[in-house]
Amino acid sequence: MSRRSDLSPDFLWGASTSPHQIEGNNLNSDWWRMEHQSQGRLELSRDACDSYHRYGEDMRLLADAGLNAYRFGVERARIEPEPGEFSRAELAHYRRMIETARDLGLEPVVTLHHFTSPRWFVEEGGWTGPTAVDRFSRYVERVCGILDGVNWVVTINEPNMLALMSGMVAAVASGADITLAAGTRMPTPSQEIGEALVRAHRAAVSVVHEHTSARVGWSVAQQCLVPAPGAEDLHAELKWAWEDLYHHGARGDDFLGVQSYTSQTVDAEGVVPHPDHPDNTLTGWAYRPDALGMALRDAWKATEGTIPLLVTENGIATADDTRRIAYTGEALGHLHDAVADGIDVRGYLHWSALDNFEWGHWAPTFGLIAVDRETFARTPKPSLAWLGEVAREGGALDAG
Ligand code: BGC
Repeated sequence: MSRRSDLSPDFLWGASTSPHQIEGNNLNSDWWRMEHQSQGRLELSRDACDSYHRYGEDMRLLADAGLNAYRFGVERARIEPEPGEFSRAELAHYRRMIETARDLGLEPVVTLHHFTSPRWFVEEGGWTGPTAVDRFSRYVERVCGILDGVNWVVTINEPNMLALMSGMVAAVASGADITLAAGTRMPTPSQEIGEALVRAHRAAVSVVHEHTSARVGWSVAQQCLVPAPGAEDLHAELKWAWEDLYHHGARGDDFLGVQSYTSQTVDAEGVVPHPDHPDNTLTGWAYRPDALGMALRDAWKATEGTIPLLVTENGIATADDTRRIAYTGEALGHLHDAVADGIDVRGYLHWSALDNFEWGHWAPTFGLIAVDRETFARTPKPSLAWLGEVAREGGALDAG
């Protein structure tokens, strides 16, 4: 059954990445430092996929497969190595990436901040520090200088996960073991950091609007939290802390990035860890392709249908590429259903283009393209050709 008629002809079909996870040698970032302070608890990003040098090859593989968009980030730790000191050479590097994407027929979707910050930013107090919003705005203003021809800008990736992670960076620096044993409940993202991120986002949106004609938004990690019977009040409380604060912070934006992987239950004690199950993915998450439909509906409802949605991440950590195709095909079926119900979805960007550095771990492979960690040779997986064919066919799920 072909299902494509509801998608707009300029629907974006692409893949996503982030700088720290693929570029390599992001030496000046808080994450690089944390990896080295973690006493072996986190694996090291090292050269990552060397995409800092090989981005042209990566983009060409996506374009040749049939995709028409590529989401990537610019790395603040490179662009602003010291407070207020901006590198023209690094800005020129990211400008070349934008032009390469355009030359290959890929719509660039540019993320301004994807989890990593320069070390000095953390030392100045991080997102809740007195200078954070002002400094972030000045950084964004500099980046606007290279955004000519860019139509989609994501200010901050997953502010809700970032609010959680910012606490981790500080904890590791003071020697704490932040590894969560299987079955442990995740902490709730800090409301104080979340509110600071909303302020930074609102400021960044104004700056991008002032200097460019791009659509601007941010991307939220949709949790698809479902209340167990009797846990409705706690569910509402946690839903606010985990995502609605950030949906609220998106009011008035040009789009909202939806990032979805799985779903979890909330019981009387909080978010229930994923139970062990043979279907769990390599990140230990429940196999839930239906979560994409839930995520789109949740995001649409939370923003009262006022903001177009763009799927900026969706994917699965698996070593079995046929499972990746099955998961993605099912997820896209749910996206089609959401569109058929009137939800305004502008594109689907798969996570991820490459098997990359999964924040302290190399084993969970999300990529449409495998990367040899010694030679950096790229090997496209069948899922890349499959997704490219779906894209060429305008979203038809019997393609490929
Ligand atoms: C992030 C990515 C990450 C992916 C899978 C999202 O949380 O934006 O950087 O690799 O999900 O965990």
